[in-house]
Amino acid sequence: MATDLALWALLEAAKDQVARSVPAPDGPDGLDRVVPAEERIAQALQLFDTVESLQPLEPTPLPVVEEWLEPAAQLAAPATDELPSTTDLATALVAAKDCLRWSRAYPDAPKRPDVDEFLDNYAYGLLVAAREPDTDNQPYAPFTSEQMMLGFTIQAPNLLYPRHSHIAVELYGVIAGNANWYHPAMDWPLRPPGSVMVHEEFQHHAMRTHDEPLLCWVMWVTEPNSPAELHLDI
Ligand SMILES: [Fe+2]
Repeated sequence: MATDLALWALLEAAKDQVARSVPAPDGPDGLDRVVPAEERIAQALQLFDTVESLQPLEPTPLPVVEEWLEPAAQLAAPATDELPSTTDLATALVAAKDCLRWSRAYPDAPKRPDVDEFLDNYAYGLLVAAREPDTDNQPYAPFTSEQMMLGFTIQAPNLLYPRHSHIAVELYGVIAGNANWYHPAMDWPLRPPGSVMVHEEFQHHAMRTHDEPLLCWVMWVTEPNSPAELHLDI
């Protein structure tokens, strides 16, 4: 029961965070978005209505989560004039940490030291995902939806998440930690807690942490079962 309550509370806190989202200013980047970022956020909010059921999972701790999630959550921030508070979502995530199935990313990535360093120091845990079992015959996430994916990511300090892309349209929100984000026409802008970035189809993105870990929520609002691809050496 405690697991159920923690997961429902996390889902509600995530929905509330999406509802209070303000897209990050993109500047004169020439991206010419077909769909405005505000519309993507509204689309994401509506998709919470497609969340169907709760199926608690066996906990799957990972070293990077055990080491960095709770220290990162301490860096969640109160509201500013421009950005919403992230403290409630950070608190809900810490409470539900052991109810999520944490995973390493990119299991098919090439074996080389820089990639291994990234994969050892980054993890994601899904809260809402498709119903199909994966190769371990486990559900992907405690809640199911055929139309959206919602999860959380933890990235250790002093680490580059290399440039990557996917067909899925993605909302990426900073819960805690100040990191630089790759942007096609900007010089790695700093994105503080409360920032939300919208990545359209195949738009390259990357994140670089410094002395703080980075804790985020991430939501795919189209093609929730599609893969992501690393673009190394760009
Ligand atoms: Fe992404």
